Amino acid sequence: MAEREALVGGMVNVGAVFRRGELVERPAPPNAGALHPYLLALKEHGFDAAPVPVGLTADGREQLTFIPGDVAVPPFADRFMTKAALRSVGSLLRRLHEAGAAVAVDTRTEWPRDLADPAGGTMLCHNDVCPENVVFRAGRAAALIDFDMAAPGRPLWDVAMTARYWVPMLDPVSAATLYPVGLDAPARLRVLADGYGLSAEERAELPGVIEQATEVCRAFVTQRVAEGDPVCLQALTERGGWQRWDRIQTWLADHRETFMTALLN
Ligand SMILES: Nc1ncnc2c1ncn2[C@@H]1O[C@H](COP(=O)(O)OP(=O)(O)O)[C@@H](O)[C@H]1O
Ligand SMILES: [Mg+2]
Repeated sequence: MAEREALVGGMVNVGAVFRRGELVERPAPPNAGALHPYLLALKEHGFDAAPVPVGLTADGREQLTFIPGDVAVPPFADRFMTKAALRSVGSLLRRLHEAGAAVAVDTRTEWPRDLADPAGGTMLCHNDVCPENVVFRAGRAAALIDFDMAAPGRPLWDVAMTARYWVPMLDPVSAATLYPVGLDAPARLRVLADGYGLSAEERAELPGVIEQATEVCRAFVTQRVAEGDPVCLQALTERGGWQRWDRIQTWLADHRETFMTALLN
């Protein structure tokens, strides 16, 4: 049997994700019974850029195919934050949504609400397209992993969540702790929207949805910290506490018009 190698990059399952040869083993999410058929259906609909589920173990772990490539870990290197990289993240998300739109959502399943679109929807959003959940090859986004947070939502919600992490939609002080300095947020938001092929109507809505997604992410951190999650608390403290969230939210509201102009002109 192939040797077990610990994989780094995640926060929720830190220390619990392993590679064994061609497979990844990780704690199965509670809704694996619905998520695995969804991932298999994505493949049937031509989306080959997500792990393929292979099985569930008796002790509550899942096995998925390992996807070769590089995954960014913080602080994120310049090569993951080029405009070409960002554009490729947008087009990969679009491909996910095009395949996903053809897959019926299992409505009897309780999908996780943590990062879900409050508006709901008829297709699954990934909801957690952070750098640690995108596999790169040759400088381009090649695959999405870690569908634990996937839940029904508007495709625009996923674009907003992705923008938060990849533009990133953070004030310059907050961005500087994890990202290369000098990233031009309005210009990069436009690159992501173009890579995705966002419609004019959706572009006009995007800045507002990013603000809404930021509120949901803050509520998620609040909940985890209140539950005593040590990893979440440590990340919050290291990155500047609640003040950082206040600063991000003020910055988003202050620059709403700038983002709109960059997206629509
Ligand atoms: N199927 C996969 N193919 C390649 N790498 C993977 C795969 N699954 C996980 N990894 C690697 O392991 C890291 C942590 O896995 P992930 O499932 O994202 O855990 P978490 O739930 O803690 O975020 C990822 O950031 C990635 O580097
Ligand atoms: Mg992850």
